[in-house]
Amino acid sequence: MLSATLNRASRSTRARRAVESFPLTRRVVDRFVPGETTADAVAATRRLVATGRTVTLDVLGEDVLDPAGARALCDSYLALLAALAEAGCADGADVSLKLSAMGQALPGGTTIAADHAAEICAAAAAVGCTVTLDMEDHTTVDSTLAIGAALRASYPFVGNVLQTNLRRTPGDLADLDGTGARIRLVKGAYREPESVALQRKAEVDRAYERAIDALMASDCHPMIATHDPAMLDRAVRAAGAAGRGTGDWEVQMLYGVRPALEQRMVDEGRRMRVYLPFGTDWYGYFMRRLAERPANVAFFLRALAHR
Ligand code: FDA
Repeated sequence: MLSATLNRASRSTRARRAVESFPLTRRVVDRFVPGETTADAVAATRRLVATGRTVTLDVLGEDVLDPAGARALCDSYLALLAALAEAGCADGADVSLKLSAMGQALPGGTTIAADHAAEICAAAAAVGCTVTLDMEDHTTVDSTLAIGAALRASYPFVGNVLQTNLRRTPGDLADLDGTGARIRLVKGAYREPESVALQRKAEVDRAYERAIDALMASDCHPMIATHDPAMLDRAVRAAGAAGRGTGDWEVQMLYGVRPALEQRMVDEGRRMRVYLPFGTDWYGYFMRRLAERPANVAFFLRALAHR
């Protein structure tokens, strides 16, 4: 119930104004978003790389509804890639893109978003970075998978995300087997209608387990993106059963959610990539993190009370 309300609020302009105007919201947001500038992102990358982690960087922004906004966000990614290269930490890093931020929802948006993404891929290739296309709500899945497939023809390092709450995902995973694509597996962060999505957490978890097995057995590069230790144990077993070494798949977690579990993965010698969002447009991302774990709302309110 609270989770559904927070998910709705993540798309509401009024709720956005209210949350952003709390004086100390920023201090709470810092737990999940380590800064607003490219320099902050590079500094956070350096810190994480020094601890044996790699990163995927997200310039925050979504649902951009004007061409200038999409262009500006594309330019922010190009500036980020240049800054990473300049700092000597581009090699092995990844950037995560939301196609809605690249203009996907504009008239002719598929072409606009694909063109911006291609520009970012070219810049990423030049500095040794990879690119992953985040997955948004179910109405965007066909377009995002098609853009991923088209980009892979020139940039094989382009990854897609599959959400196990969606009923279509086993079919999408079967279609991707044989492409060798980098595939990030997530449970799904968007509130979706029953017609297209599993509603009960236990069902989504079972679907996630089945998808781990299928992904590990495929020729794709699995990126197991979860903070759920049971799923990570399952991934370790499935990787072993599929004959994969530790370099043949990776674990991914969102910045600030479970640092101790990240450390356990590093200590076990696993490839651990942290999703590092930065920028001023943190509202939608932050609200989805609250919705995933309503206990975070108490954390948020406590911090506000102690301001
Ligand atoms: P689950 O929700 O079952 O949580 C397991 C445990 O993790 C919880 O018990 C809690 O301890 C902890 N936890 C989880 N979320 C937390 C939070 N916000 N705060 C504190 N603790 C928390 N989704 C999407 O739709 N499209 C996408 O492109 C992506 N991309 C993406 C990248 C990466 C690297 C990750 C890790 C996740 C995503 N997601 C995503 C989000 C994903 O769909 C999902 O909503 C969250 O990862 C939460 O699900 P878990 O698998 O962690 O399990």
